[in-house]
Amino acid sequence: MSLKTLLASVTCAVLLGSLGSAAPAGSSSSSASSLLSPSSTAWPSSGAPSSTDSAPPVFETVPPASDDPNDVAWPPSFMGTPEAIRGSLGATVIGPQNVPLDLENPDLLAPPTTDNGLVDNAKWPFSLSHNRLQTGGWARQQNINQLPAADELAGVDMRLEKGAIRELHWHTASEWAYVTKGSVQVTAVNQLGQNFVGTANQGDLWFFPAGVPHSLQATNATEDGSEFLLVFDNGSFDEDGTFLITDWLAHTPKEVIAKNFQAPISVFNELPGEELYIFPAAPPGPDSDRPESPYGEVPSPYTYAMSQMPATQLSGGSVKIVDSHTFNISKTTAVAEVTVNPGAMRELHWHPTQDEWTYFLEGNARVTVFASQGNANTFDFQGGDIGYIPASHGHYVENTGNTTLRFLEVFKTATFQDVSLSQWLALTPAAMVEDTLNLKPGDLKYLSKVKQVVVGPAPVNGTANSTYSA
Ligand SMILES: *[C@@H]1O[C@H](CO)[C@@H](O)[C@H](O)[C@H]1NC(C)=O
Ligand SMILES: *[C@@H]1O[C@H](CO)[C@@H](O)[C@H](O)[C@H]1NC(C)=O
Ligand SMILES: *[C@@H]1O[C@H](CO)[C@@H](O)[C@H](O)[C@H]1NC(C)=O
Ligand SMILES: *[C@@H]1O[C@H](CO)[C@@H](O)[C@H](O)[C@H]1NC(C)=O
Ligand SMILES: *[C@@H]1O[C@H](CO)[C@@H](O)[C@H](O)[C@H]1NC(C)=O
Ligand SMILES: *[C@@H]1O[C@H](CO)[C@@H](O)[C@H](O)[C@H]1NC(C)=O
Repeated sequence: MSLKTLLASVTCAVLLGSLGSAAPAGSSSSSASSLLSPSSTAWPSSGAPSSTDSAPPVFETVPPASDDPNDVAWPPSFMGTPEAIRGSLGATVIGPQNVPLDLENPDLLAPPTTDNGLVDNAKWPFSLSHNRLQTGGWARQQNINQLPAADELAGVDMRLEKGAIRELHWHTASEWAYVTKGSVQVTAVNQLGQNFVGTANQGDLWFFPAGVPHSLQATNATEDGSEFLLVFDNGSFDEDGTFLITDWLAHTPKEVIAKNFQAPISVFNELPGEELYIFPAAPPGPDSDRPESPYGEVPSPYTYAMSQMPATQLSGGSVKIVDSHTFNISKTTAVAEVTVNPGAMRELHWHPTQDEWTYFLEGNARVTVFASQGNANTFDFQGGDIGYIPASHGHYVENTGNTTLRFLEVFKTATFQDVSLSQWLALTPAAMVEDTLNLKPGDLKYLSKVKQVVVGPAPVNGTANSTYSA
């Protein structure tokens, strides 16, 4: 261990210790580093003959990775003044400082030394979005204008008071939704005249294919009404650019409207003169009030009761995956709802062809996005933040707080897919993996042939702590 890295870990340990933190991440990182540590005495020292005749000695061409655990510089509970210091690097901030923002982003102000180069910004908090306030609710959005890397998907956070309506409308993108609070009655009619009325409760989904006209209304199931997340399969989607029925009719000659509906023109005396968008109303009736269509109900429901689906329990948390295999109509959006226990982590992985639009529901997370060519940047997130990770970019999601971390991974796809680093290596010939990572024979037992998805804290003293199928 060099003096520099020694100082770095000592300073880090002192900092964390002085905060009285239990620092589960610290213990996990140091155990993880014992797995890969180049300082392990059992390793061939530089220049010593390798066990493989034809292979060059270890570290002849590249130096070993630093054994600095690179823990997050301060935990979410830290109340002091954050400084741009990591070990012997950096210095105090003596100019103006936005302390609350710096406290929320330790890995921007004092990044791990493993960070390098620049990765496209991967974070947008809805708190930085301009809000559109209406009578009965509000809506704020994130699209490519806020987060330029996010060209595949865009998001909207919408709030409706009890009974309030997001008016009848349609748009060129598909709409996928997750209810974060309360419940919402949705209505839709497809191009065949088949109709749908259904209710999505907290933790449930809805999906409308592009162009299908629909409405949203908060029910009176909870006094506060509802809030929900909308995700569109177009990064340029603009929530203010949807097709609204009131906007259309306000810009259609009344003579045409009367002729269209075959009604006396006086019927339309009180038509709104401009769009309503969100407006208050009495709570909706039961779903069974759906008018009976001569063409029947839509064959595949537009809602999915994800809240009722059992989560798959994992060593470090849980996961629920819903894509078109379970929610038939949802052909252009898939989701994984993930929980990560304190000290646990969504394992190192990537998504082969799909960008990930991430929404953090609660807790604290640390994510490093690896963009190849040595580029890697680390970002910190909390409830209400959006993350964006381009296809094939390696990443993990670590719980850095002391409460459950819960987030959604959303993709523009019919089928959820990910590649696990651990599983990939476990299913690759041992010599290939040992030679590449300089692992000792026997260390491969730590790799898992079964995808772990969310792993617990690193085992103490090198004892495996998962179900391994080796
Ligand atoms: C847990 O987090 C809360 C809020 O950030 C903080 O007040 C508390 O001290 C933390 N507890 C521990 C044991 O770290
Ligand atoms: C995405 O939305 C933008 C803005 O509405 C539109 O110009 C563009 O054509 C859309 N892209 C696709 C693939 O539909
Ligand atoms: C909710 O609204 C429905 C329909 O208007 C009504 O029948 C019901 O009594 C209301 N329930 C509560 C709890 O207010
Ligand atoms: C899914 O929907 C399509 C039509 O949209 C239908 O042909 C198919 O049978 C449905 N599959 C399931 C499993 O419900
Ligand atoms: C193993 O994982 C479980 C579940 O995450 C955790 O409670 C436990 O502390 C871990 N044990 C060790 C030795 O790390
Ligand atoms: C880990 O090693 C330390 C020092 O040898 C020992 O005190 C401790 O009991 C060990 N813990 C476990 C879980 O084996």
